[in-house]
Amino acid sequence: MNRTGVASVVTSPRFGDDWWRRGVVYQVYPRSFADTDGDGVGDLRGIIDHLDHLGRDGLGIDAIWLSPIYPSPGRDVGYDVSDHRRVDPLFGSEDDFDELVSESHRRGIRVVLDLVMNHTSDRHPWFVASRASRSGPYADWYIWRDPAGFAPDGTPLPPNNWVSWFGGPAWTYESARRQFYHHTFLVEQPELDWRTPGVEAAQFEMVQGWLDRGVDGFRLDTFNVFLKHPEMLANPARRGTSAWTRQVHRFDIDQPDQPALIARFRAIVDRAPGRMSVGEMFVGTTEGAAVLTTDRHLVFDWELMTQPWRAHAFRAAIRRRERAFGPDRWPTIVLSNHDQPRHASRLAASIDASEAERDAIAKAAATIELTSRGTPFLYYGEEIGMGDVRIPLAESVDPPTARVDPEFQWWDRSQSRTPLPWSGGPGAGFTTARPWLRLGDDATTRNVASQRADPDSVLACYRRLLAARCEQRSLQDGTLVLTDAGDPTVLAYRRSGSGGEILVMVAFDRRGAYVRLPAPRRGAGWRPVAGTHPDLPARVESRSPHRLRPFEGLVLVADG
Ligand code: NOJ
Repeated sequence: MNRTGVASVVTSPRFGDDWWRRGVVYQVYPRSFADTDGDGVGDLRGIIDHLDHLGRDGLGIDAIWLSPIYPSPGRDVGYDVSDHRRVDPLFGSEDDFDELVSESHRRGIRVVLDLVMNHTSDRHPWFVASRASRSGPYADWYIWRDPAGFAPDGTPLPPNNWVSWFGGPAWTYESARRQFYHHTFLVEQPELDWRTPGVEAAQFEMVQGWLDRGVDGFRLDTFNVFLKHPEMLANPARRGTSAWTRQVHRFDIDQPDQPALIARFRAIVDRAPGRMSVGEMFVGTTEGAAVLTTDRHLVFDWELMTQPWRAHAFRAAIRRRERAFGPDRWPTIVLSNHDQPRHASRLAASIDASEAERDAIAKAAATIELTSRGTPFLYYGEEIGMGDVRIPLAESVDPPTARVDPEFQWWDRSQSRTPLPWSGGPGAGFTTARPWLRLGDDATTRNVASQRADPDSVLACYRRLLAARCEQRSLQDGTLVLTDAGDPTVLAYRRSGSGGEILVMVAFDRRGAYVRLPAPRRGAGWRPVAGTHPDLPARVESRSPHRLRPFEGLVLVADG
């Protein structure tokens, strides 16, 4: 039920309750999507205004995932939440949120919220109360421990050797309690103690509140970190290049009772059909992500996101994912997000590609992203081939960037969080004010409006591939088997499912490649249905040589 007492239900979506595996999710970073109130920061009304870019007559995605929209002091740009139940006025009102849900639903788009349940802001009322005293209702809602001892000068020593992902120790001393609190991230992001029953009950009540407002799913921030070893044992040492990597994180993440906690969470989400969740695997492996994947609960793995633009690297990554997830677990497909370099610039840099080649690679990568096995999660702006923007240190809004510590290397995440250019001209159609983060220098030419008008743009390519994915059931539910196209610089795989057989081929080389297509199980040749280039070959015979153009991706269906 939203605030007007009406539960919003998605109308005529492209897929039913299994949309979470057939459909495509698009990550909106609200600060950088579109600003309507002239403060330089994106807002919920900006998302509402641009839903047609995402809906059926635009890109054609099935759900939006909103990066955190809750009140926050902004130390970790919204991942430090001071009230999980409300909308930050920076982004709009509670009514704006309800309108965003119903307007999305009206266009068949589902809404996924980012839940940050591992930690809160240090300004959250729970923590304010908890840090003030060892008694009171919130005293044990955070991870408090006595000092392990005292240095000769009386300085309290942290309870164990755990370190923060954002650099420095994972413990901060609070003199009011004469105890340390734990934080995997910033000092201003104290870790909740999920072993305290009140914490779980409060979090699940909050989850229910958003479901009642019509939300269709959740992304769970660092979900494999919620539970720590009950005895808070010291992590064993290992070789590494930083304080973090010199520990085996055996006791501060991935505890054995985590799946049971997620099952209790899922029981709430599953009270209505068709709701999904996706867990953000923090620093884990692909195999670890697969193990934590259950029905309707996906888990991000980072295998594809960390590859250079090489066919053998992508082939090995796909092979490893297929092995890890097996036939019964459904993977996600992610090439970019708000924590990592954008793939358009990252992949191009990995082979020293020219500016002209960069878009061709972005299109070829989109072919893989939208046709391999799993649920694709697109990151806003990738549909126009947006790249990272160099941000001077003084303009960075990513706090770990400012840490000066030889033990700590950091990539400034501001670079991949810059505003989406909607059109040329001042403010790029994003804002009438000074944007909260600078726009890319190429915003005047690389923007949604100019690409909409160009049939050979990255945007046009995304639209073609998304349409093909929607039409071809085997791209949604089929198995994936790697195949040999006769040239090692070509990635090729077959998808077989309820819609017949599909072959995908992607040329990684700037010279293109000659391929020899495998024969379809039924039929004599292959009919291209989509690809990186707007002009498709009419039909491709199997076994006869076919030339793929530089960085060309082709999606073909078996043709009898
Ligand atoms: C993962 C989020 O993706 C990242 O942006 C954030 O800094 C950490 N979790 C801490 O919340």
